[in-house]
Amino acid sequence: MFRVSGDAPEAVFSGGAGAAERTRRLRPVPPPAAPVFRAPSVDIAEAEEFLRLFHAENPVDTPIQHRLARMRYEVETIGTYRHTAEELAYGAKVAWRNSARCIGRLYWRSLKVRDLRDVHTVSGVAAHCVEHLRMATNGGKVRPVISVFPPETPQRPAPRIWNEQLIRYAGYRNADGSVLGDPRYVRFTEAVTGFGWRAPARRTGFDPLPLVVETREEGAHMFALPPDAVQEVPMTHPELPWFAELGLRWHAVPVISGMRLSIGGISYPAAPFNGWYMGTEIGARNFADHDRYDLVPVIAERLGLDTSREDTLWRDRAMVELNRAVLHSYQQAGVTITDHHTESHRFLTHLEKEEAAGRKCPVDWSWIVPPMSGSQTPVFHRYYDTEASGPNYYADEVATHRALAGGPPHFT
Ligand code: ARG
Repeated sequence: MFRVSGDAPEAVFSGGAGAAERTRRLRPVPPPAAPVFRAPSVDIAEAEEFLRLFHAENPVDTPIQHRLARMRYEVETIGTYRHTAEELAYGAKVAWRNSARCIGRLYWRSLKVRDLRDVHTVSGVAAHCVEHLRMATNGGKVRPVISVFPPETPQRPAPRIWNEQLIRYAGYRNADGSVLGDPRYVRFTEAVTGFGWRAPARRTGFDPLPLVVETREEGAHMFALPPDAVQEVPMTHPELPWFAELGLRWHAVPVISGMRLSIGGISYPAAPFNGWYMGTEIGARNFADHDRYDLVPVIAERLGLDTSREDTLWRDRAMVELNRAVLHSYQQAGVTITDHHTESHRFLTHLEKEEAAGRKCPVDWSWIVPPMSGSQTPVFHRYYDTEASGPNYYADEVATHRALAGGPPHFT
């Protein structure tokens, strides 16, 4: 079933230890004889709604009736239609604008959209994911970027990226049941190990996992990320020298690769996108959640806090120092990051702008309110519109399962 490769184009996978990663073909897989999948025909009403929105919000020369007629003709003959480059770019931005769980939407217009709809090979997709990392990281001045690979069509299914994010850390289960690394990815790590991925000789809690890219024609392949495409930040604390000894680090850019971009009835399952981090995502969740790195008790002990009783609020105190360390470290490293107070205010600015433009802004309170000091941020103290419509990003159940379990393959 699996072929393991590191055979992306030289130009991208050059330099660093990643380039030395050799292609290891485990078992050749003949392509399936008959198409195993047919995407349903595009919903014309949804396509029309999007095209009308595009024409209403953008200066377009083509009269809307012409555009709609062409779309209908295409859908009636081949079951799908092709977005213009401008429609695609706008659709990806509006999908961000409509993302009810994202607090960072003030900058939705600045999204850089990479139109990669003609990249059909697994090595091409992997190479462009690496290029995405370099563009988005931008030496630390993080840029919001999306790379849009081919859509799902009745003629040809879209490529799949299995990973939840382009960069995630392996989780290794120890004999005593504890985990080295990110417990969220223990199953994914076990799966790719089964496919032939080799963990570094000296395992750490922060070993980037390989990318797994699958197409119907080629099956699933693994690609090691070139280390120089993975910028990381070592954790230090502004006042506590011992913090550095914990050896913590995190990647500079979160590139979500497990969500499907949906625009006007067309699905783009492979469309990795990123913004920059808000500190609490790392300090109050990735490092702090009980089922992730679970570091709050570790920090509390180093701080010498009384952990024998909950009402000393040792958890809260340790969490604050952990989050100060995250913000401090990214700033020291020159990597873009924002704090939850600043971001909450920016989000209210975004809401005001959307209201002034006569639009509704869908908001999921439970995601927008930060995971620490919620009531200290203005986003806590109000109600919001909740229903979203139009372009959006979706976490499909099967894709999420594949991202956590490392399978099963999409095309069998
Ligand atoms: N919370 C996720 C993480 O910790 C990232 C989600 C997207 N975040 C963002 N700032 N764009 O990796």
